[in-house]
Order: sequence, then C-alpha cells, then structure tokens
Amino acid sequence: MSSHRIYNFNAGPAALPLPVLEEIQTGFLDFGGSGMSVTEVSHRSKWFDDVINDTVDRFRRLLQLDDRYHVLFLQGGASMQFCMVPMNVLPDGVSADYVDTGTWSTKAIKEARTLGKTVNVAASSEDKNYSYIPRELALDPQAAYVHITSNNTIKGTQWHRYPDTAGVPLVADMSSDIMSRPLDPGPFGLIYAGAQKNIGPAGVCMVVIRDDMLKLIPEGLPSMLSYTTYAGKNSMYNTVPCFAVYTVQLVLKWLEETVGGLEKMAAINRQKADTLYRVFDESGFYRGTAEKGSRSLMNVTFRLPSEELEALFVKEALENGLGGLKGHRSVGGCRASIYNAVGLEAVQALTQFMAEFERKNG
Ligand SMILES: Cc1ncc(COP(=O)(O)O)c(C=O)c1O
Repeated sequence: MSSHRIYNFNAGPAALPLPVLEEIQTGFLDFGGSGMSVTEVSHRSKWFDDVINDTVDRFRRLLQLDDRYHVLFLQGGASMQFCMVPMNVLPDGVSADYVDTGTWSTKAIKEARTLGKTVNVAASSEDKNYSYIPRELALDPQAAYVHITSNNTIKGTQWHRYPDTAGVPLVADMSSDIMSRPLDPGPFGLIYAGAQKNIGPAGVCMVVIRDDMLKLIPEGLPSMLSYTTYAGKNSMYNTVPCFAVYTVQLVLKWLEETVGGLEKMAAINRQKADTLYRVFDESGFYRGTAEKGSRSLMNVTFRLPSEELEALFVKEALENGLGGLKGHRSVGGCRASIYNAVGLEAVQALTQFMAEFERKNG
C-alpha cells in the first residue's frame, strides 16, 4: 500500500480497490488510445460506447440478469429514486407495501407520500430504534410492489433472506450492499443503488428494471424522470456521468477478474465481518448496536462506554491510519464500513487497534 494511503472505513463515498485507482491514474491522460482523458472524451464516441456497453455486460453477468432486465445509469443519487420509483411504477389507485427499516426506507416512504401515492407500511423496526430487520410483514397481495432497503448503512442492519412476497415484485434500494454477494434477481422488479459505496464514485445511480415494470410507466412524465427515456436510449438521452460510469466499469472488472465473482466476494465479506463482530462478542467494552440476526456485513455499527471515549477512539484511530470510523451524525457512536474494496488486512488492523485501545482505556 502507498505510504500515504490509510485504511478507509468511510460509509460513502468510500474505499475503491487500489488496482482500480491505479488503472485510472495510468490511463488518465490518454484513455484507450484516444489521446484524451476519459473526462474529456465525448459520451457519443466509440471509446465511451465501449465503456458503457461493457459496464452493462459485466453488471448483467455479475447479477445474473436475463434479457427481461434493463440496466440504466441515472443521476440524482439513490435519493432521486425515492420519488422516481413511485412516480413510474406505482399507478394511481393502487398501493405499494414498504418495509421501514429506518432512515432510507423512511425517506422513501415520505417521498412516495409527497407524490400523493398510497403507501402501506407492511412492517417497521422503529419500536427498537431500527436495530433489526422485521420478520413478520403484513403484505397486501394486490400491492404494486414491496419496497425494502437491503442494507441500512446507518443502523448497520441487513436483510439476510429477502421476504417472500408471493409474486408481488420486490423493489430494493441496494445502495450499500449491491455486488457484495450473489443475487437471485427473480423476485426483483426493480433495484437501485447509488454507486458511491460498493461499486464506484459518487455521480451515478444504477437502476435495474424488468420489462413488466417498464410497462407500468405512465405517459406524460418529464423525460428525465421516466425510466422509459433511459431504457430507450441506452442511458444516453443526455450526457451520462462518463467518469463515474468508467470507474464502475473498472470496479466490476476487478470483481470479475481479480476477485473471481460474487461468491468469492461474499466469502471474503463474511470473513471480514466475522472478524469484527467477534470483538463485540468477546468484549464488554465494545457493544454492537444491531441485533445479531440482522447484523450488516457492510456497515458495522458499535458503541463504546462513553461519548468521550468514542471521540478519542475515532481520533486515535485516524492517527493510526484508520479513517472514517465516526458513526452517522444522526445516531452517533462508531461505524466501520467494510465494503468490497476494504480488505481483510484493513479489518485486522482495526481489530488490533481496538484491542490496544481497550487495553489502555477499558
Ligand atoms: C441505503 C441508502 N439509500 C440511499 C442513500 C442516499 O444516497 P444518495 O446520497 O446517493 O442520494 C444512501 C446514502 O448513504 C444509503 O446508504
């Protein structure tokens, strides 16, 4: 590792694989023999055509998407999807089921309601401060879709088994765990994910949408707010965020060719998470905030005995080359985001530091 680089546990934007950053650096001034940087090349050029098409192909292969699924690149972040989803695929007079696992799903519910749409909260873990994933869902078989947030980045909870929706399409915000494990896309009608946690830099949001969902989209939506526009133009109705898409391409290439696919990635992610959660299970000093069965393999949230110790922990960790460990401002505490690009050695460095910190302050 370059001597200036730290172990990066930020929640997003977050760590990218070093070989990806190096490839960007090497090719930055002369992208693909074009004599231009990827930030200068036309999005309508053959060079960029190759980038976008290869990114879609890799996306499809990794998530095992068949021909019914369209892979789209949008801007506006995952937050834009909170309104675009109901605007496009929740017809008036029909309701959608949402599972409220905190923060992001709460926002998704609010945005749908702002549009005057009918939302049924099928389950919520608000009663225990969103520290778990609800198991009992009151689902409506007539719902247009069931919306979940596959991983709550802030509370550190994750769905380990997706709910059985008896054929009603699942819609998932996978911003903070997409490509962290293999996926059976079958139950999903729509998936969205901001790239800046697990698959790229900020600036692009991936949307995967199935043909049957595309058919629900009403006429008359503003062009930029309709998935039809993106699906019909290979995401190039207007200028795509070229640099962000290019970086996603390199991350997916790294996943396929260096890591060896999502099975392998999932095994590594499991090992990293186990290493870190073991500390909580063996220590009275660090306390994990998520219930055991709902623990996220991506965002590990924890508390120390006092806020003063938490502030000292974050400060001393950074002095030891471990960055981004402060919890989200809405919940406090500490959080280690251990996305795909954060290696086992980073997690081991963190657990070593944690043991030493406990020894000195426990
Ligand atoms: C699960 C989840 N959904 C949505 C968002 C919002 O994403 P964006 O900032 O791209 O709008 C975040 C951001 O952290 C997130 O973690």
